Amino acid sequence: MILPIYTLGQPVLRKVAEDIPTDYPNLKELIADMFETMYKSEGVGLAAPQIGKAIRVVVITLDCLAEDFPEYKDFNAAYINPHIVEVDDSETETMEEGCLSLPGIHEPVRRPKRIRVQWLDEELQPHDEWVEGYLARVMQHEFDHLEGKVFTDRISPLRRQLIKRKMQALLHGQFSCSYKVKMPR
Ligand code: NI
Repeated sequence: MILPIYTLGQPVLRKVAEDIPTDYPNLKELIADMFETMYKSEGVGLAAPQIGKAIRVVVITLDCLAEDFPEYKDFNAAYINPHIVEVDDSETETMEEGCLSLPGIHEPVRRPKRIRVQWLDEELQPHDEWVEGYLARVMQHEFDHLEGKVFTDRISPLRRQLIKRKMQALLHGQFSCSYKVKMPR
């Protein structure tokens, strides 16, 4: 089922999301719906707060990048209760980001290149891994959603000033996009 995507101004996007118990009701269905919603809206990641749930569940697909990054062929993964437990900030990188919850806004964001992450996969198997490259970028963006943060919180004050009007319009539901959304009211 395709779910509406909550856009900035919806309070759930500013909440710290909670870990879920492994017997969380209809978890498989929720994850399947999140994948379907992400594919439909052509995102590379979707966090549960973006569909109105303040819980720590994220889906990521990098298959669309396989032409440039062959290692991401067929990469589709769900992350349950993910936590960044260590950050290697010796190297950072600036890349342009966008977000399904902030349609029309794209800004460069500086982030560390390597992070250590703990999570459960879809089969509820635990992982504890250092992650780098494009996946580390997308994970940091998605896991920010679980902390009540969005990528524009991480841009420079100057850039933030420059997109102030756009952000105001977004907060007032004055935008259009090609997928189903739940705007702030
Ligand atoms: Ni996002």
